[in-house]
Amino acid sequence: MKEQAPLNIQWFPGHMAKTRRLMRESMGLVDLVVEILDARIPYSSKNPEIRKMVGQKPRLILLNKADLADRETTRRWCDYYRKAGVSALAVDCKSGRGLNGFAPEIRQVLSEQIARFEARGMRGRPLRLMVVGIPNVGKSSLINRLAGGRRAKVEDRPGVTRGRQWVALSDGLELMDMPGVLWPKFDDPIVAENLAFTGAIKDAILDTEALADRLAGRIAHVAPALLANRYKLAEAQLSDRRPMALLTSIGQNRGMLLPGGVIDTERAAIMLLDEYRGGKIGALSLEQPGERRGE
Ligand code: G4P
Repeated sequence: MKEQAPLNIQWFPGHMAKTRRLMRESMGLVDLVVEILDARIPYSSKNPEIRKMVGQKPRLILLNKADLADRETTRRWCDYYRKAGVSALAVDCKSGRGLNGFAPEIRQVLSEQIARFEARGMRGRPLRLMVVGIPNVGKSSLINRLAGGRRAKVEDRPGVTRGRQWVALSDGLELMDMPGVLWPKFDDPIVAENLAFTGAIKDAILDTEALADRLAGRIAHVAPALLANRYKLAEAQLSDRRPMALLTSIGQNRGMLLPGGVIDTERAAIMLLDEYRGGKIGALSLEQPGERRGE
């Protein structure tokens, strides 16, 4: 059957020019940029201009929400970035899993710079970091995990604009308290759909039922057993790719009926999106490395 066209999702990020300017200003103050991506959709959660903004500055990619993504796929994404010359770590900033590798990885990425500091008699010069990522990718969760209670006790430093403060972490690292908010590639309809599935663009104008049906179709494609298992879908239900068929079967199998026996697809849609976002269907990745150009 022919692949359906992606949904037309309208989303208008505000303050893009201001964000871009703030980010450029902050970039000059740090030694390394921590770029957070969503492990389920690394390509879609990547800002299209990040390379231009970061320039030659060292970068570390964190594939966050690894608890919600397929472990083997996330491992392949890490390899993929490393082969492209960028360090990448899989983490879960909600539980903190994977973060014990954070400081060592940064010291490794910045090893040449550390050696230069030492050669110039600046042993122990703090390494300054800034966290960037699209909305809801986990920037605050990461900062809270790393900085914890230390956040409240920071001082303003000369040369640092008000609102930007440094939090001292262990291992000689200093973290900029304010993360950089990036915008996603909102002009690519597939990307927009992926961001809507994961809940990254909560303020988008969406047709929830159409979105949930598309999501069901994507899961049926990447992890059919997980979908079938969660919603007790029979083979015929799972392979029926007519519009709304999967969502209707899911609603039916969950007994979501309106008076008169009509299946409540709206309720089924809200439930499916909720369960997917909460990881209840299982750990699954919607994007594989090498699948698309321009990663
Ligand atoms: P942001 O600053 O980049 O906008 O993102 P933020 O840290 O606020 O995180 C957005 C949502 O993602 C939060 O959920 C947060 O708990 C969740 N989250 C962050 N990191 C992870 C992770 O590694 N795994 C999982 N499963 N979730 C993560 P929320 O529902 O908005 O808030 P809450 O109910 O969790 O407090």
